[in-house]
Amino acid sequence: MSADAIATAAYLVAALLFILALAGLSKHESAKQGWTYGVAGMVIALVATVALVVDRTTDDRLVNVGGGTSIVLLIVAVLVGAAVGLWRARIVQMTEIPQLIALLHSFVGLAAVLVGWNGYLEVERARGLPAGTEVLTGSLLRIHHAEVFIGIFIGAVTFTGSIVAFLKLAARMKSAPLMLPGKNLINVGALVVFAALTVAFVVQPQLWELVAVTVVALALGWHLVASIGGGDMPVVVSMLNSYSGWAAAASGFLLDNDVLIVTGALVGSSGAYLSYIMCQAMNRSFISVIAGGFGIEASSGGDEDYGEHREINAADAADLLAGASSVVITPGYGMAVAQAQYPVATLTQKLRDKGVEVRFGIHPVAGRLPGHMNVLLAEAKVPYDIVLEMDEINDDLADTDVVLVIGANDTVNPAAAEDPGSPIAGMPVLRVWEAKNVIVFKRSMAAGYAGVQNPLFFRENTQMLFGDAKDKVEEIVRALT
Ligand code: TAP
Repeated sequence: MSADAIATAAYLVAALLFILALAGLSKHESAKQGWTYGVAGMVIALVATVALVVDRTTDDRLVNVGGGTSIVLLIVAVLVGAAVGLWRARIVQMTEIPQLIALLHSFVGLAAVLVGWNGYLEVERARGLPAGTEVLTGSLLRIHHAEVFIGIFIGAVTFTGSIVAFLKLAARMKSAPLMLPGKNLINVGALVVFAALTVAFVVQPQLWELVAVTVVALALGWHLVASIGGGDMPVVVSMLNSYSGWAAAASGFLLDNDVLIVTGALVGSSGAYLSYIMCQAMNRSFISVIAGGFGIEASSGGDEDYGEHREINAADAADLLAGASSVVITPGYGMAVAQAQYPVATLTQKLRDKGVEVRFGIHPVAGRLPGHMNVLLAEAKVPYDIVLEMDEINDDLADTDVVLVIGANDTVNPAAAEDPGSPIAGMPVLRVWEAKNVIVFKRSMAAGYAGVQNPLFFRENTQMLFGDAKDKVEEIVRALT
């Protein structure tokens, strides 16, 4: 059997394992197994690729065009990539995972741009080789040019878009949307230029067209993501995930690599579907978000004076909790930062032992990753059956004695429901303000991720418990005994 046939079979097995990985990762219980399938698929795909390159280096025809150096380059690339990946994965904090993912997406985009450019240069070089060398001609050449162009475009949009997402998630760039005059026109104009250049390039390829599409796509990617406000970043991250998949698939066509095409398409379609689900959960228009906030106009910054806030200390909070019959905990990003899930689990157990009904209300975009809060609570062994989705708990909040808002902010902001001018207007939120008492755990009066002030903090039934969430929950646990 030829090396090509073995590699094709291995790629098929790897592709099946990737599908099983996605299926496994969609549920808590099977997530670990799904991860194992994914790793196995990746190992098989890598080994098959290396074996193929080794086999091709023995092919004289390919040695002439640089096959000998390929294997060295491949091994160096795998070693450098594996070393950097291991180093980052070991030191990254759970709260930094979203920005790390955004950064990794940017690498996929950059790789697609480089593969595209290489595809163009290789064909150009082959034209200069002696007669008898295989050279693409006719419609095959045109298809190749289209692949090069589209691959570079998607890759470059993904590259700069992901870098902006990284900067916003890492708080190195303001999360507020960039509102350039005529921003929708800029986006549509860039797409029109891309379409026109693609036709021109397929008909008569010229180097300047490739340079132009690269520059336009880099600028478009930057502008698309910069135009999206903090509150919509979850959708952007999954959208870029999708783009990176399509960029990889485009590279797969150019490199004639089946597993890259299949994997890219899996990532592309699952990322697009996740973006769609998130848009539904956040009451956002899918088209508007993928078009860089198309149709979203500048909104009032919310500088209003909401009056005075009230404070509470841990001992009084413990008394309030001990006298309650129902408690709902709505965690957010601050719980992850403080790593407060363990004392929160202890507090839950203590209150349940005292006969208090305790439940959790989880907003679909609480934290910085889909399912972020669920993972933390599962880690701290909070029983699954008391962890409810936003829609399952919202109607019960009015009959709840005490709501503990632990490090959540945007996801419990009444402005989303009540102020049509707010940047997060229309986003469904946990209606915690309807409860009899609300205690908000945070360190200051600072705004949440979307940069919007929260009128909840100034409501009559709200009291602020300032300090690190972990310390404060631990103080309450101690005061309860
Ligand atoms: P946020 O609005 O991000 O607010 C978190 C709050 O936690 C902050 O107000 C902060 O206030 C507080 N905090 C931080 N560290 C703390 C600590 N050690 N102890 C106590 N409090 C602490 O939280 P959220 O309600 O979870 O909303 C999530 C936001 O992130 C949404 O806007 C969402 O769109 C966005 N986002 C979500 C995702 C996904 S997929 N979940 C991805 C990207 C972006 P202080 O600084 O005053 O303490």
